[in-house]
Amino acid sequence: MRPVLIFGASRGVGFLLARLLRQSGIPVFAMLRSEAARADLEAAGVHVLFGDAFSVSELDRACALPQAAFDVVSTLGGRGDDGRFVDDEGNINVIDRAAARDVRRFILVTSIGCGDMAPYRSERAIAAFGAAVDAKTRAEQHLKRTIPSGTAIRPGGLRSEPATGRGILTTDPEMHGFIHRADVADLIARALRDDRTAGRAFAAVDADQARSINLVTPFPLVARGNGHV
Ligand SMILES: NC(=O)c1ccc[n+]([C@@H]2O[C@H](COP(=O)([O-])OP(=O)(O)OC[C@H]3O[C@@H](n4cnc5c(N)ncnc54)[C@H](OP(=O)(O)O)[C@@H]3O)[C@@H](O)[C@H]2O)c1
Repeated sequence: MRPVLIFGASRGVGFLLARLLRQSGIPVFAMLRSEAARADLEAAGVHVLFGDAFSVSELDRACALPQAAFDVVSTLGGRGDDGRFVDDEGNINVIDRAAARDVRRFILVTSIGCGDMAPYRSERAIAAFGAAVDAKTRAEQHLKRTIPSGTAIRPGGLRSEPATGRGILTTDPEMHGFIHRADVADLIARALRDDRTAGRAFAAVDADQARSINLVTPFPLVARGNGHV
C-alpha cells in the first residue's frame, strides 16, 4: 500500500479522492495552498502540507515527505494571478519533482480534448476552454517523456453530484460527455491499482452520459473491492 501524494486535494475530484483512499486505509499526503480544506482532510486522516505548484522548492519538500516509494495524482487546474496556467507549468513542476524522487504510478487528470482528442473538439469547446486544454496537453506530453509509466485521465464535463458507479475509461479519441466528480475519483483510485493503465491516456465519462460516433468500449479496469478501492 504505497502512499499517494495528491496535488489539488482542496476541492473537487482531488478532495473526493483523498477521502476515498483514506476509507481503504491508504496513506495520503495532500499539498494545499490555503487552510480551507485542512480540517476536513485531516479529520479523514490525510497528512496535509502547504505549498504552491508554481514553487519548485515547495513541491520538492512535498515530494520528499512520503520518504519511500509513492504514487502521485495531480488534479491541478486554473491560472495564477499573473495569468500563468497551473495546468501546464504547475503540473510540469510536479512531474519533474516527483521524477527526482521515488515515484511509481503518476496519474495526471487533464481533460477531454487533450492529445489525440484535439481534432474532435467543437468550435465552442475550443473557444471556451481551448487554452487550458492545450496547456494540459503540454503537461501530458511532459509526463510521457519524463515518467513513461504515467497515466493521463481526461474527464468530460464535471458534475458535483453523487457517484453513479457508471464511470468508464476509454481510449476512444472521439468520446464526449459528462461524469460526476465522485466517479472520476473512483476511476483514479482503481487505475492506481491497475498497472495495465500505465503509460496510457483515457477519457473518463459516465456510460450513461457518453457520446461518440464509435461503439462505446470501456477499458476493463480492475473492479472496486468490497465497497473499497
Ligand atoms: N470543470 C470541468 O468540467 C472539467 C472538465 C474536464 C477536466 N477538468 C479538470 O479536472 C480537474 C479536476 O477538476 P475539479 O473541478 O474537480 O477541481 P478544481 O476545482 O479545478 O481544482 C483545482 C485544484 O488545483 C489547485 N490549484 C490551482 N492552482 C494551484 C497552485 N498554484 N498551487 C497549488 N494548487 C493549485 C486548487 O487549489 P485551490 O483550492 O487552492 O485553488 C484546486 O485544489 C482539473 O484539472 C480541471 O481543470 C475540469
